Amino acid sequence: MDTTAQADFVVVSNRLPVDRSGDDDGWRRSPGGLVAALEPMIQSTGGAWVGWPGQPDIEVEPFEFDGMRLAPVALSTDDVELFYEGFSNDTIWPLYHDVISPPAYHREWWDAYVRVNERFARAAASVAAPDATVWVHDYQLQLVPRLLRELRPDVVIGYFHHIPFPAYGIYAQLPWRTQVLEGLLGADVIGFQRVADAGNFARAVRRRLGFETKAGSIRVPTADGGVRTAIAKAYPISIDAAAYDELARRPEVQARAREIRESLGDPKTVLFGVDRLDYTKGIGHRLKAYGELLREHRLDVEDVTLVQVASPSRERVAAYMQLRDEIELTVGRINGDHDTVGHTAIRYLHHAYPREEMVALYLAADVMLVTALRDGMNLVAKEYVASRVDGLGVLVLSEFTGAADELTQAVLVNPHDIDGLKDAIVTAIDMPVAEQRRRMRALRRRVRDHDVADWSRSFLHDLTAVREARDSDGTDGTEDAEGTEDTRA
Ligand code: G6P
Repeated sequence: MDTTAQADFVVVSNRLPVDRSGDDDGWRRSPGGLVAALEPMIQSTGGAWVGWPGQPDIEVEPFEFDGMRLAPVALSTDDVELFYEGFSNDTIWPLYHDVISPPAYHREWWDAYVRVNERFARAAASVAAPDATVWVHDYQLQLVPRLLRELRPDVVIGYFHHIPFPAYGIYAQLPWRTQVLEGLLGADVIGFQRVADAGNFARAVRRRLGFETKAGSIRVPTADGGVRTAIAKAYPISIDAAAYDELARRPEVQARAREIRESLGDPKTVLFGVDRLDYTKGIGHRLKAYGELLREHRLDVEDVTLVQVASPSRERVAAYMQLRDEIELTVGRINGDHDTVGHTAIRYLHHAYPREEMVALYLAADVMLVTALRDGMNLVAKEYVASRVDGLGVLVLSEFTGAADELTQAVLVNPHDIDGLKDAIVTAIDMPVAEQRRRMRALRRRVRDHDVADWSRSFLHDLTAVREARDSDGTDGTEDAEGTEDTRA
């Protein structure tokens, strides 16, 4: 494979789909759905993936990995601090998650964000073949669509936003609110997780830029006095449901699930939470509800154990360090108050686990607790459902996740309402088997019928339609400004 040739299909994301965090210095595929979803498409089209290799200050030449062409973008130690930890994860992340943690606004961080987005746009522009399709991902790269369009007006550009897009009253705090909207509007199709996110974006565009929007079509004035249409629409992301189903049917995974329950002392009920250790996930709210249930003797440590996997994340950002301290203090207190020699209230694991082990944990869990305060989608909820090949188990799911729009047969909760959360946990623990089966059947159907392949297909279908419209009218997708009716909604 010629790793320097240009590609007809290019994916751009902050991280490459591989990392080098293992002991042997070799590249390994990152876990996660995006890689699984896009890899077949990249392999079959000879496509390329542009992204950061995950470590500061390493310059890596383009290379091939399992039939994918990877084009690394280097970040210096300063870039990591200002662009990644700073603007991406201490400004945009908390702002877009409804200011659960206060966002910090620093002009130096913004300058780094512009600089790094320019670098990604240049890398994408140089790897894309004439008239290529380029798919940009997530909040770290919101300026890339516009920058890339300036460099390469011939390419069709998609952007998918994996996290929430907040209501205008919150978004408006951002000192660079206009530039970010203009950056995103460089794309032909701008995808969001929920209908509400796409609506918030369209409203922000109307309020800030005064562009006309109607049913997800945004009329964007072009530099030459014309107008082009950008589409803002919901495409809820999903998982490779069949892969989870297949793993969950393996005898060795089922044996591991039994072993997990045994090693927990065979409690009547295993509760399970698994999250990146992030303040958006509502881990503290979950622990508070659980601790109160134990204290009030509505639950007994002889009967129930909570397994909480908290995978390490963004550990150099102060809000994440503080969160870890708070969670670990709370876990220690609850265990100190309620553990017996033979039983533990919370088995807390600050690790990430391979997919096989996750599926065994899902199978071992009678009740799955997803209590995020705000979450773009929450794929853990879908993974749990896809893994329950026995048709049993109860999903307790926060209303503030994108997944709640689809997984309506879960026990839906408002995690801020601790009493409501406590009641929901007890309801889930006591749920009769027949009702578990009825709910799980509907949940499983939803996840099976709308998997991650379906997600990428529908996004790319809309992107292809843009290309075809361009090709058929023989223009670059723009039209004359004159004669446009007022479609402002
Ligand atoms: C979320 C974001 C992703 C990000 C991931 C892990 O899912 O939407 O863009 O890659 O978290 O975070 P990290 O900062 O480690 O990339």
